[in-house]
Amino acid sequence: MVTFSEISGFAFDLDGVITDTAKFHAMAWQQVAEQVGTKWTSQLADNLKGIDRMTSLEMILKAGGHETEYSDTEKEQLADEKNHNYVNLIKTLTPDDILPGMLDFIQSLHQNHYKLALASVSRNAPVILERLGLTDSFEGIVDPASLKLGKPDPEIYIRAAEVMHLDPDKVIGVEDAAAGVTSINKAGETSLGIGDAKILHEANLIFANTKEVTLQAIKEKMTAN
Ligand code: BG6
Ligand code: MG
Repeated sequence: MVTFSEISGFAFDLDGVITDTAKFHAMAWQQVAEQVGTKWTSQLADNLKGIDRMTSLEMILKAGGHETEYSDTEKEQLADEKNHNYVNLIKTLTPDDILPGMLDFIQSLHQNHYKLALASVSRNAPVILERLGLTDSFEGIVDPASLKLGKPDPEIYIRAAEVMHLDPDKVIGVEDAAAGVTSINKAGETSLGIGDAKILHEANLIFANTKEVTLQAIKEKMTAN
């Protein structure tokens, strides 16, 4: 692993890292799963974290053995329905919905002259950042529409490093999803996972929750490793 002093930038996932929209994605997908007859489990919910919209739908269909039952048009409709419900759920977001400690962490990164990029596959990311009052906090946002492959492919985290004009080994990627951690690792960056250590076991650095993520704690973990 690189040393702490070599780090110059942070690439952030959004859903489940900066704000708890992961629960809203799960609620909206659960409705779709019930509609198509796929059993909703916490494992399926975890597997969907970080996965783009259409791939998530394919995974839900496959989990219940329904992958051949829907035409492309019907799949588009199901995905639109999910997004409609999700967009309704996030309407109430305000800056108070930034996860504990994350605003302080982002501010400390600015004070210490780190670069920041957003690496979310969500097409709703710009509106969420706006609602949280964080639009100006990032050097740049990787446009998910421009990606060939979503997480766990490394493309999004490679692009996040480019947005910051940094080599990947100078970047820490921050994630709550196993697919995202894989993406960061394959991009050649240092992965910081927030959440269940069992699920995020591939991460270079693991924190149980957002409150624990501080520059000092990262430095200590990188020095101890
Ligand atoms: C990721 C979420 O950030 O964005 C996934 O973790 C979600 O759950 C994906 O499916 C795509 O989001 P959206 O807003 O474009 O449907
Ligand atoms: Mg996430």
